[in-house]
Amino acid sequence: MELAAIEKGGYEHFMLKEIFEQPSTIHDCLRGRLDAVSGTITMAGVENNIEQLINANRIMIVACGTSWHAGLVAEYVIEELCRIPVEVEYASEFRYRNPIVNKGDVIIAISQSGETADTLVALERAKEQGAFIFGVVNAVGSSIARLSHAGAYTHSGPEIGVASTKAFTGQLAVLNMMALKIAKAKGTITNEYYLQLLQELQDVPEKVEAILKNADELKTIAAKYKDAHDFLFLGRGYNFPIALEGALKLKEISYIHAEGYPAAEMKHGPIALVDENLPVVFIATKDSYHEKIVSNMQEIKARKGQVISIITDGDEVSPTLSNDTFSIPTADEIIAPMLSVVPLQLFILCWHFKRCRC
Ligand code: M6R
Repeated sequence: MELAAIEKGGYEHFMLKEIFEQPSTIHDCLRGRLDAVSGTITMAGVENNIEQLINANRIMIVACGTSWHAGLVAEYVIEELCRIPVEVEYASEFRYRNPIVNKGDVIIAISQSGETADTLVALERAKEQGAFIFGVVNAVGSSIARLSHAGAYTHSGPEIGVASTKAFTGQLAVLNMMALKIAKAKGTITNEYYLQLLQELQDVPEKVEAILKNADELKTIAAKYKDAHDFLFLGRGYNFPIALEGALKLKEISYIHAEGYPAAEMKHGPIALVDENLPVVFIATKDSYHEKIVSNMQEIKARKGQVISIITDGDEVSPTLSNDTFSIPTADEIIAPMLSVVPLQLFILCWHFKRCRC
């Protein structure tokens, strides 16, 4: 480990440093694995166990907190690309109940530290029952990495900040590569789409860099809402877990109430909470759900909620329904969560600074 990796390097906080490190940590995660020109992904842990993975009856993803949110994104991606049923479990629930685990099941364990007790015990139990364990871990040589039959490290470097940021985007990078590799071997993805997604993954570090360059815009937006007592984060599809992640991060950093919700579920009760004092953050990037999420924005506006939206460059509809918007570069919907989470991480930190210093 290099000394610089565990120092703040001129940043005021580790979390800020780690958010800004993401172009290079994602690049490190992809480096030596993904080659968009030749159309190859090299991951020994996947290659050596490809039969086990493509023939899995189902995949269970076991994790906690932010890592669980990465698992939720992976559920959508793996089911879409690989056509294998996926279940995502909180390790803390899985370990105490009596789950049905069969021999053909694959468990993907996701953990930054590789030491989370609930995840570790859940895996031990699943392993005893004959499951194949694939670890997606950041900390090299950690307990979860050692317990796994195979795995892939995220190579995000030491994450010192308690709030997980760069580890999350590293997890998404590994899980996307894994899904693409399985889909290719299984024949459930067209070659054209496979090559497109490879190229898009390769472009992520540059796009994250572009987002970080506009950090000042998020500071200005955060200042406007510094007196809020609650926040609501809404998303659909691949961005639903990102809404959960936004709410978790805000609670963890700022000690105020925040809730993440699937945007379409609001009408089934929680919309009653919306009034002019509630900022509602929409993760509304251009994807197959976009038209639907626009109608959810209309529902919030009708109740006078304050809409802040994370949108795709060039979207002309969402700004007409939003009090504030922040644009991110265009990406396929499978890749978009790796981008849309970044402005949320920054917004939350900026909001915390504004609140504490005013
Ligand atoms: O090290 P792990 O990924 O296993 O940790 C799991 C959670 O405790 C962790 O992701 C937590 O939710 C984050 N610190 C939230 O920012």
